[in-house]
Amino acid sequence: MNTAPLTPDFIPHEWRPVASAELIDDFVRVAWADGAVFDAYSLWLAENADGYGLEPMTRESMLEPRDLPSPADLSAATIDGDGALALDWSDGRRVRIHPGWLRYIADDAHLPASALPVQTMWTAADFSEPPTIDGSQILDDDDVLDEWIATLVQYGLCRLADTPTDLDFVGRLIRHVGPIRDTNFGPIWSVQLKPNPDSTAYTGLNLGQHTDLPTREVPPGFQFLHCVENTVLGGWSRMSDGWAVVEAIRSEHPGAYEALTTLEWVFMNRAKDAEHRWIGPIIDHGGRRQPLTLRAFYPVRSAPHMDRSDVPRAYESLRVFAEMARDPRFQVVYPFRPGDLVGFDNRRILHGRDGFESGGARHLRGCYADHDDFHSRLRVLRRDRTHQQSSTKASNTRPITSHEVPA
Ligand SMILES: [Fe+2]
Repeated sequence: MNTAPLTPDFIPHEWRPVASAELIDDFVRVAWADGAVFDAYSLWLAENADGYGLEPMTRESMLEPRDLPSPADLSAATIDGDGALALDWSDGRRVRIHPGWLRYIADDAHLPASALPVQTMWTAADFSEPPTIDGSQILDDDDVLDEWIATLVQYGLCRLADTPTDLDFVGRLIRHVGPIRDTNFGPIWSVQLKPNPDSTAYTGLNLGQHTDLPTREVPPGFQFLHCVENTVLGGWSRMSDGWAVVEAIRSEHPGAYEALTTLEWVFMNRAKDAEHRWIGPIIDHGGRRQPLTLRAFYPVRSAPHMDRSDVPRAYESLRVFAEMARDPRFQVVYPFRPGDLVGFDNRRILHGRDGFESGGARHLRGCYADHDDFHSRLRVLRRDRTHQQSSTKASNTRPITSHEVPA
């Protein structure tokens, strides 16, 4: 067999021989023995071909669009003896295309949702505590790491139990996955009582259900809280799936839903050395490809940014949101034990805590990360194991943002 042509990625594609190839109106129609058919445009093939546009070290395309050939320059499309697609160009060059890579594209396995679990809505009827995994070996066992990230993506919430309780563990774990999302609170921060707090998180106050950092254009995707010490009475955590809360508001309080999704507020953080601002609705369904973003952190909601006549109903909708977010139907309520590390989707999951007295010590170490880096890590973990199993259209996955678009 000839050497397999390079592909425009670093994925070890299975060899999936092409059964037929036909040049039709500047597209190459390739078909496989199982009936799958894919139309590949000539210039797209040129960009991605080993021996044409593909730069072999980086696997990126090096052809500027103005340097692309004419579609008519593709003179023939055939199959070589190994089942690779062979393309002849008018300048005399012949390139081969990896048939497994073509099949990977044909199967939509290159789409962002591929290899990621489907998001699942949950309520208190589904869990009494967060989905929990033994975290004692997570830095050494990729199967545990896979399960943890997959659970985070699926439910937006996962607790690791029995992790080390040193102050640096959460940083080691998140850096094991990807970059930490730094903020003006620092890359890793401690949630504990502070004498001069710059956030209500650093007091013993009750914290209503919220998401962090609505003052940012793109709030952090995931938040992690690692309990290194806890001897206080109270301070239990409360989590609810904001997706479920939003859907309940939509069906039970349509007027409030309309106000929460359309009326905008200015958000501004309160810090002596930072001044982040953003404008948006409380429930932000975003654009077509953007995930649901809840901006529910009332301590930094600055001012209504709406017509005067809308302000009273905007406030009434806030009350509805807060009451629904606190509704026992949706909440799991649980204590933090030393060694617990709770991760959650900061744009989807509403989190809060009960107040606590200052009689003991409560110390959480926290940090943020972006969705992208967790998704990337999971894809790479699964690259060798699962992507080739989906030889048909990815029927077991759907875009992870599919729930954000109102029906
Ligand atoms: Fe928070």
